[in-house]
Amino acid sequence: MSEKVEIIAIDGPVASGKGSVSSRVAKALGFHVLDSGSLYRLTAYSALKHGADLSDEEAVEKIVLALSPVFESGKIFLDGEDVTEAIREEDVGIAASKVAVHPLVRKALFQVQRSYAKAPGLVADGRDMGSVVFPEATLKIFLTASAEARAKRRYNQLKEKGINSNISDLVKDLRERDERDLKRAVAPLVPATGARILDSSDLTLDETVNQVLEWYNGTKA
Ligand code: DC
Repeated sequence: MSEKVEIIAIDGPVASGKGSVSSRVAKALGFHVLDSGSLYRLTAYSALKHGADLSDEEAVEKIVLALSPVFESGKIFLDGEDVTEAIREEDVGIAASKVAVHPLVRKALFQVQRSYAKAPGLVADGRDMGSVVFPEATLKIFLTASAEARAKRRYNQLKEKGINSNISDLVKDLRERDERDLKRAVAPLVPATGARILDSSDLTLDETVNQVLEWYNGTKA
């Protein structure tokens, strides 16, 4: 009999801290991590590079089917190019939320994402991990925070990288992306059935991670 793979699905809006929380939880439990947003970002990056029309579903589907990213020692390579930093740029994130509205793109990425489920477990971070990709997850979390708290975190992250930004522009950007992620017809950003809502607006990263671990341990009690 194959070993049971434990899955923790962490979904939530942009800049809710899913990435940091997921990698910390995975480290604590010795699990693998899936940053599903990076797959949408890679698709968007490649589409932009090839000058594809982001609203042309079939053109973007071709791009995603041809995608062969290499994940190596914390870096991501696409056709030999190190794109680790480039796919984190705001314009790629915005393009990612545009390609993510296409059902054919989501369908093509479905199996890719499922293939990350390996023993002993996986922490899957995204928008539809608990609702669509891993409905069997042991624990489903909807991690959220106010747009202002998220914009402030994003502002500090950019500042650390030496990039100046403006909080009100960031809030506006986040709201626009939330709208697009919430309103798309396929896999909109809504808490999965049975998901626990975790609002991290007033929590530190440690407190947020501890809450997830406590809930996970509770599933074993
Ligand atoms: O988590 P992120 O900011 O890296 O994701 C980038 C975009 O990809 C986001 O705006 C919506 C999309 N996305 C998605 O639709 N489904 C996922 N599971 C992950 C990301």
